Amino acid sequence: MAIAYNKRTHDCGALRASDVGKEVILAGWVNNYRDHGDNLVFIDLRDRGGLTQCRFNVDTDPDATKLARTLRKEDCIAVRGEVISRGENVNPKLPTGEIEVSVHEVNVLSKSLTPPFEVAEHVEANEDLRLKYRFLDLRRPPMQRAIITRHKVQQAFRNFYYNEGFIEVETPILTKSTPEGARDYLVPSRVWPGEFYALPQSPQLFKQLLMMSGFDRYMQIARCFRDEDLRADRQPEFTQVDLEMAFVDVDNVLDVVERSLAYVWKQILDIEIPTPFRRMRYDDAMRDYGSDKPDLRYGMKLIDVSEVAKKTDFKVFADALARGGIIKAICLPGGADMTRKETDGLTAEIQGVGAGGLPLCKVASENGEVVLQTGIAKFFGKEAAAELVAAMDAKPGDLIFFAAGRFNDVCKHLNWLRTTLAERRKLIPEGRWEFLWIVDMPAFEYDDETGTWVFMHHPFTMPHDEDLDRLESDPGSVRAKCYDAVLNGVELGSGSIRIHRQDVQQRIFRMLGMTDEQAWAKFSHLLNALQYGPPPHGGLALGVDRIAMLLTGMNSIRDVIAFPKTQKAFCPLTEAPSAVDPKQLRELHIDLAAELKAKQQQGK
Ligand code: AMO
Repeated sequence: MAIAYNKRTHDCGALRASDVGKEVILAGWVNNYRDHGDNLVFIDLRDRGGLTQCRFNVDTDPDATKLARTLRKEDCIAVRGEVISRGENVNPKLPTGEIEVSVHEVNVLSKSLTPPFEVAEHVEANEDLRLKYRFLDLRRPPMQRAIITRHKVQQAFRNFYYNEGFIEVETPILTKSTPEGARDYLVPSRVWPGEFYALPQSPQLFKQLLMMSGFDRYMQIARCFRDEDLRADRQPEFTQVDLEMAFVDVDNVLDVVERSLAYVWKQILDIEIPTPFRRMRYDDAMRDYGSDKPDLRYGMKLIDVSEVAKKTDFKVFADALARGGIIKAICLPGGADMTRKETDGLTAEIQGVGAGGLPLCKVASENGEVVLQTGIAKFFGKEAAAELVAAMDAKPGDLIFFAAGRFNDVCKHLNWLRTTLAERRKLIPEGRWEFLWIVDMPAFEYDDETGTWVFMHHPFTMPHDEDLDRLESDPGSVRAKCYDAVLNGVELGSGSIRIHRQDVQQRIFRMLGMTDEQAWAKFSHLLNALQYGPPPHGGLALGVDRIAMLLTGMNSIRDVIAFPKTQKAFCPLTEAPSAVDPKQLRELHIDLAAELKAKQQQGK
């Protein structure tokens, strides 16, 4: 009689020495197969729980052993047998390493083709192949751990917020465009010819409406869809822990969010994260790190050396200063050991990021005196050299890099350099969690290309009360009640206090170049609701994928998403997006030219 695989007694990671003598039923996949040629066959059986060694002995169980000899990797089987001690042959690397199962009976549930890559801890295969065979990739232990950790992260967030009185409300997926700064994914309507739903870039307006509906504290583990350029920490569809609260100001939101993050870190890693998190003004972050998401695990701050630069004969500095630019520098401790080849390589790379070049000099000691050497050292007189060394707090053996130009460009280039050097030279300490809040962002940014003001967060963000008067006269100076949660250089989440006054909301839309009619056409549901006693409210959304990536130590959010897309927004598993039946297109009132179809197919 076949083994009752539905009566599994344990998972493959459960058995210990204390179970010796028990009769067990296990089921899973053949991880490894070793035929000792004489009378013994060993199979490591794997399931979500772990690995158990199964022993087949031809003398005692000839039928089971005969069948075992036909098994290959990834065959799916069930076994019945007795737990026995491994005696001297304990495998200390396996939690089940003290025991093995002496199999009396085996049931082959299904056979597997030879897998295109090893289902093992480490994989050599390229990511496209892993994604095409994602069901096999997900069998690998690191992927199992990542997906299970992600589940625990979501569960912990839900527990936390439910306990704080938040209620979970689902918001529509087929909806109207929400402006989060990316392109929308559109869904054609069959019932409304020529009209489209948009997939939500976030539940932003619905959660504001829920505050106006009196729900007070809302949360949702929400899927969001954005058609934007993808990176290691961006996917076209991703998940947020989305929340909103009524009758709150900035401090209330930051308090609950930082406690939720500390709770999740405690649950998942058993680490105490101190709260409150430190707060840094946006301007200070840009000044000191050239980034609105600085990684505080290491130093190398950006130092303004424009005053010292004025005292040098270096033309690049003089030109930048004459054009109203600045000169900033970072000091790489011990960097003087970099070879010419290495610094030339960095120069080429930073040029790829848009910099003109990479001026640098070494700090050395000569006859007990600290001096500058190589690179642009020759342009510094004695006094300027001493001032530079003091400003940079540099020591002999350090290397100083410079960037000259407009503030934004200097920030971009030195931020790239700072993070690249930290990674390559292994300056990032392990196991440090540097949480911080970035606060007081500017409300608007001037877009040189279009010559218009654009919002930094989204257009529903409340300006600081004392800046409201300057909304029209000096938009660049208006700060927003807006905040980002940052961890180790990654933006985890972002939020704001919202505008709950219709007059302010309309002024903002006008500022952004929208007529009242256009604003009503786009956001009538919000503007209308703002007329009916909206409460002051605010919230935030945390990126679940990024949080799970950091907690599992993965390098890409794709590794914590069961079925992600590639950087080109393609799914190698399902081959989506794909061409559809012309009949479906006709029903949707869509007429695609043949060339376009062909192009789409090639473009993948
Ligand atoms: P924002 O657009 O900043 O704010 O998004 C919040 C957080 O979501 C994550 N995130 C992403 N994760 C993966 N792939 C993406 N393409 C992606 N885009 C964003 C980030 C980010 O910090 N409605 C506002 C929130 C609010 O104001 O309450 C919003 O969505 O971790």
